[in-house]
Amino acid sequence: MPDSLRFQTRRLDYKRLLPSLLSSHQTLLTVIWTAVFILVVVWQTNAVDRLLTYHHRRFSQPPKPIPKLRHPVFNLTDFGAVGDGVSLNTKAFERAISEIHKRGGGQLNVGPGVWLTAPFNLTSHITLFLAENAVILGIDDENYWPLMPPLPSYGYGRERRGPRYGSLIHGQNLKDVVITGHNGTIDGQGKTWWEKYRKNLLNHTRGPLVQIMWSRDIVISHITLQDSPFWTLHPYDCQNVTITNVTILAPSSGAPNTDGIDPDSCDNMVIEDSYISVGDDGVAIKSGWDQYGIAYGRPSTNIVIRNLIVRSMISAGVSIGSEMSGGVSNITVENLLVWNSKRGIRIKTSAGRGGYVRHIAYQNLTLENVRVGIVIKTDYNEHPDNGYDPNALPVIEDIRFTGIHGQGIRIPVRIYGSREIPVRNVTFRDMLVGITYKKKHIFQCSYVQGRVIGKIFPVPCENLDTYDDVGRLVRLGVSQNSSDTDYDA
Ligand SMILES: *[C@@H]1O[C@H](CO)[C@@H](O)[C@H](O)[C@H]1NC(C)=O
Ligand SMILES: *[C@@H]1O[C@H](CO)[C@@H](O)[C@H](O)[C@H]1NC(C)=O
Ligand SMILES: *[C@@H]1O[C@H](CO)[C@@H](O)[C@H](O)[C@H]1NC(C)=O
Ligand SMILES: *[C@@H]1O[C@H](CO)[C@@H](O)[C@H](O)[C@H]1NC(C)=O
Ligand SMILES: *[C@@H]1O[C@H](CO)[C@@H](O)[C@H](O)[C@H]1NC(C)=O
Ligand SMILES: *[C@@H]1O[C@H](CO)[C@@H](O)[C@H](O)[C@H]1NC(C)=O
Ligand SMILES: *[C@@H]1O[C@H](CO)[C@@H](O)[C@H](O)[C@H]1NC(C)=O
Ligand SMILES: *[C@@H]1O[C@H](CO)[C@@H](O)[C@H](O)[C@H]1NC(C)=O
Ligand SMILES: *[C@@H]1O[C@H](CO)[C@@H](O)[C@H](O)[C@H]1NC(C)=O
Ligand SMILES: *[C@@H]1O[C@H](CO)[C@@H](O)[C@H](O)[C@H]1NC(C)=O
Repeated sequence: MPDSLRFQTRRLDYKRLLPSLLSSHQTLLTVIWTAVFILVVVWQTNAVDRLLTYHHRRFSQPPKPIPKLRHPVFNLTDFGAVGDGVSLNTKAFERAISEIHKRGGGQLNVGPGVWLTAPFNLTSHITLFLAENAVILGIDDENYWPLMPPLPSYGYGRERRGPRYGSLIHGQNLKDVVITGHNGTIDGQGKTWWEKYRKNLLNHTRGPLVQIMWSRDIVISHITLQDSPFWTLHPYDCQNVTITNVTILAPSSGAPNTDGIDPDSCDNMVIEDSYISVGDDGVAIKSGWDQYGIAYGRPSTNIVIRNLIVRSMISAGVSIGSEMSGGVSNITVENLLVWNSKRGIRIKTSAGRGGYVRHIAYQNLTLENVRVGIVIKTDYNEHPDNGYDPNALPVIEDIRFTGIHGQGIRIPVRIYGSREIPVRNVTFRDMLVGITYKKKHIFQCSYVQGRVIGKIFPVPCENLDTYDDVGRLVRLGVSQNSSDTDYDA
């Protein structure tokens, strides 16, 4: 049969079939649904087109004008910088900052582009402004990174004896420093460092991305910090530090020690409205390590942490310790969301640390898909050297948890005090979390004293006293020092 005829036959068949198909109600419905479906698809396609046009318009818009926040205003390019991602701009940063130093202060604008640089030092009364699509890129060759003496409260670099690498952006003994922008980025190219660290190719402790030491009146806001070689943002022995609306990113695994923010021996600090997803703790409050931290004796105190979204697949959303030998007190953590993480919040310490962790309030924590919600651990036995004093026992007391919610949690609470380091005066109020592990003892305690008030789910450990909603004692805690735990959990 010739092709044309075969085609006609098929068409005829189809015509004959159609009326009989339409005669059934079911088929009619199918046809209507098909028509509606096609309409929706067409409409959606247009919507996507509209969205793409919007983005196109957005990106082709002229760049946001940079506000003049401090006078005089300089442009990094005026100092010979080239933002091509290849030219090394260390000298340009140094010249610009030295000019601002001479003028007694000023603003340095870093425009769109990729500005490769080795580490440089800030000066007082500076505003470093990172435009939209500005990237300060740290050179990933350690020969360009200066070595610095160890932090006095740590005795030596955190991972290696002797000196340590400085930070990409560094400051010491400064006053009134602002690092801000239209969400420009500081990128530490950590990948190279993490690999060298894993292969044991580094002779010194890796450097942080931004480290400000012995300084006051610091504001860091509206920027993105990414792929730090080591801790990302490290304020050390500073007063009056505000960190607001920052994004901190590092791979959630394979990026060792990339803590988000490490307030260390700092007084009067706020961390708020930020997003942190890193390869270690989101925030870790510290104050020195064993005998060195005890001798330095500078606590972290008066710190508010609020409105954060944190993800930490390796460690915890917000930690205190394990280096806390100068003491940690008066900390408020509120409106914290921790998602897809190993732990929600953690306090970690051990014999040898000395110091204290006290007056800590956690309010309104949301834990989504977190393996262990709240952890207090007193055997974090990692010491700088054998010179630590095993009788230097930390004190852990006056810790309050109010409003703990969420779902997908395996072990909601694990507080392991010990005979030498009991955990005293903890209070839980208003806790209701969805659990994934239906065993009896998933609210785990040992050597802990304190109370639960009102409704608590899951059922709290028996170590704690029980009060009702209006504060009437229902039951005294029994066996405060027993281990109400389930070791296979
Ligand atoms: C800096 O100067 C260059 C060259 O004059 C100019 O193209 C750029 O827009 C300026 N950038 C900022 C952030 O002022
Ligand atoms: C920054 O200043 C500190 C303290 O003076 C110094 O040790 C360090 O080498 C400086 N870093 C750079 C990159 O100049
Ligand atoms: C800032 O940039 C980061 C990284 O590109 C992005 O994830 C974040 O959403 C941005 N923040 C704002 C407020 O635009
Ligand atoms: C580390 O030290 C060894 C032995 O002193 C030396 O051979 C090597 O080059 C050093 N590596 C770095 C990255 O400095
Ligand atoms: C804290 O720092 C900010 C920003 O530099 C400043 O405006 C404020 O006066 C400082 N507050 C105190 C109590 O020193
Ligand atoms: C950060 O600031 C931007 C712009 O001001 C805002 O749109 C965004 O919601 C803020 N992010 C957070 C986490 O507060
Ligand atoms: C605790 O910290 C907050 C926030 O920094 C501060 O306002 C308050 O005065 C501090 N309280 C004590 C007792 O130091
Ligand atoms: C609790 O925190 C969440 C963010 O995790 C926030 O959306 C909510 O408004 C907070 N609730 C209260 C009562 O502040
Ligand atoms: C227990 O801790 C709370 C703060 O969470 C504090 O107000 C209270 O005074 C402490 N009680 C004792 C007996 O120390
Ligand atoms: C539990 O142990 C701590 C110290 O290890 C002790 O101070 C406390 O009195 C003990 N409590 C009870 C009820 O035995």
